[in-house]
Amino acid sequence: METLTQLSQFAQDILEGLKKTNKSINSKYLYDKIGDSIFQKIMEMPEYYLTRSEFEILTTKSKEIVGLLSKDKRDINLIELGAGDGIKTKILLEEMLKKGLNIEYFPIDISNNILQELQKSLLIEFPKLKVSPINMDYFKALKYINTKSNQRNIILFLGSNVGNFTYSGAAIILAQIAHFNKSGDLLLLGIDLKKDPRIIQNAYDDKDGISAEFNLNVLRRMNTELGANFNLNNFSYYTYYEPFSGEVRSFIHSKIKQKILLRNLDTTIEFEANEIVHTEISKKYSLKELEKLANESGFKVEKHYIDKASYFTDSLWKIV
Ligand SMILES: C[S@@+](CC[C@H](N)C(=O)[O-])C[C@H]1O[C@@H](n2cnc3c(N)ncnc32)[C@H](O)[C@@H]1O
Repeated sequence: METLTQLSQFAQDILEGLKKTNKSINSKYLYDKIGDSIFQKIMEMPEYYLTRSEFEILTTKSKEIVGLLSKDKRDINLIELGAGDGIKTKILLEEMLKKGLNIEYFPIDISNNILQELQKSLLIEFPKLKVSPINMDYFKALKYINTKSNQRNIILFLGSNVGNFTYSGAAIILAQIAHFNKSGDLLLLGIDLKKDPRIIQNAYDDKDGISAEFNLNVLRRMNTELGANFNLNNFSYYTYYEPFSGEVRSFIHSKIKQKILLRNLDTTIEFEANEIVHTEISKKYSLKELEKLANESGFKVEKHYIDKASYFTDSLWKIV
């Protein structure tokens, strides 16, 4: 398995983010071993409709989707950005293998822990599947694979992962996907749709505090990996949905004025009382906005697969 010197990259990015006037932590760092397991709890929360909606789409439409994905090719590189535990991808994998397609699966994830879990479970569930995990950030992985072979590349970007970018950030990563693949290659993009803002707000502000635990865990991660001395009781989680931009914006809030030592980096970071650290955005789209995004980043929308409640779409895009 490919590995990165993630710790030093983690340390560098954390330092850079916490030294800014408006402090921030990249959401990709929320996923360590503990973060991965908290995220699995989030996916089961009654408020977190996203996983259930996408599950419904993939279970009811997998035959049709796989039919389109494999129309004229039987040899496929299946590249997944931010694969996580692959629970929904396995629905597609099962259908593809049933059809006798020859697949090499490249799950990409910044969390080495979840990639190893995924690899173990795939070995049990699909022992014949060729799996080549890549433990890298999306951007690095796209350059690393740069697969221009004759085979069809199918890129999966499920679970509203692209929602962790702003609209312009999403346009950049999607253009990279188009650049590092070939005209005619396909992307299946899981996107959370704009809906009643209260439903969205609740999904990120659950009453049991699991989303809070997920965000605050990054402080614990800094304690472990950077020798920091964060007391999690002195911080809280704050999130809100802004319906015009379609962005859920999440933060860590410092309850008191405090100084935190990052021992391994020989640095102290000061927090004012009520200072906030931006941790995550989760952008929601209208179908119109999605069509625009596709056109601007080098794709053509082939079809939107939408769940019954119209909460979520898995949209099939083709590189032009
Ligand atoms: C919201 S989870 C979704 C997982 C899965 N796609 C699903 O739908 O259940 C996001 C996953 O993407 C990974 N991830 C987040 N940012 C990443 C990045 N910049 N590069 C690579 N992986 C990333 C996380 O580690 C996590 O496993």
